[in-house]
Amino acid sequence: MSNLLQVRDLQKSFVDTGVEIRVLRGLDLDLEEGERLAIVGESGVGKSTLLHILGTLDRPSSGQVLYRGKEMSAMDEDALSEFRNRDVGFVFQFHYLLPDFNALENVMLPALIQGWEWERARAGAMKLLDRVGLKERVDHRPGKLSGGEQQRVAVARSVILEPQLILADEPTGDLDPRTGEEIQELLFRLNEEAGLALVVATHNRRFAERIGRQVELREGRLFPI
Ligand SMILES: Nc1ncnc2c1ncn2[C@@H]1O[C@H](COP(=O)(O)OP(=O)(O)OP(=O)(O)O)[C@@H](O)[C@H]1O
Ligand SMILES: [Mg+2]
Repeated sequence: MSNLLQVRDLQKSFVDTGVEIRVLRGLDLDLEEGERLAIVGESGVGKSTLLHILGTLDRPSSGQVLYRGKEMSAMDEDALSEFRNRDVGFVFQFHYLLPDFNALENVMLPALIQGWEWERARAGAMKLLDRVGLKERVDHRPGKLSGGEQQRVAVARSVILEPQLILADEPTGDLDPRTGEEIQELLFRLNEEAGLALVVATHNRRFAERIGRQVELREGRLFPI
């Protein structure tokens, strides 16, 4: 196994109405290719903040994040958007599917943005929707799907470009236990079959245990559990 992510002395502060909130305070992390990691911790400790920084949706105040040995802060905007589109897949608690597009179109979209031919994007999206058990629902808009089905579409969309890493922020938080377990199984399957690394922030203890490696975010740093 080789190193996918290395985080060194990561600091992140927010300034809100003149007050500085130090959220991440010298955080270190190493993640191997294909590894699974659960990040737990009380509400407000900075789990989402960390995932956003790892996915380059937000910038650190200081410190280093290396992706496959490359310093992310040294990447230009083109390289960063390439990374965001191709190397990383995001799954959030609320899925952010586009309401006016059907399931198939929602999954195709990242591929179309990446410049794939329509037919290739369609075939790729169909295969994934079949894999997540939604072959019969491809024409439905998100509003006509259940919460769990919407989340499965979101997972399919996050992996169409075959990322190396999935960052999932409370992916089962808005779902009932059984549907939440389906999403867990789906993420585990992608990890096992496609070798994707999986970083999940969750309040769900059982899910965190099943992931295997667990760390707690506390006082701005990560502690092994
Ligand atoms: N854009 C922002 N501006 C100011 N403060 C912020 C911003 N984003 C996050 N924070 C603050 O940073 C802290 C960490 O927030 P974050 O959302 O990362 O926590 P979390 O661990 O994901 O919590 P939860 O478990 O509730 O999702 C909180 O105190 C939050 O108010
Ligand atoms: Mg959060």
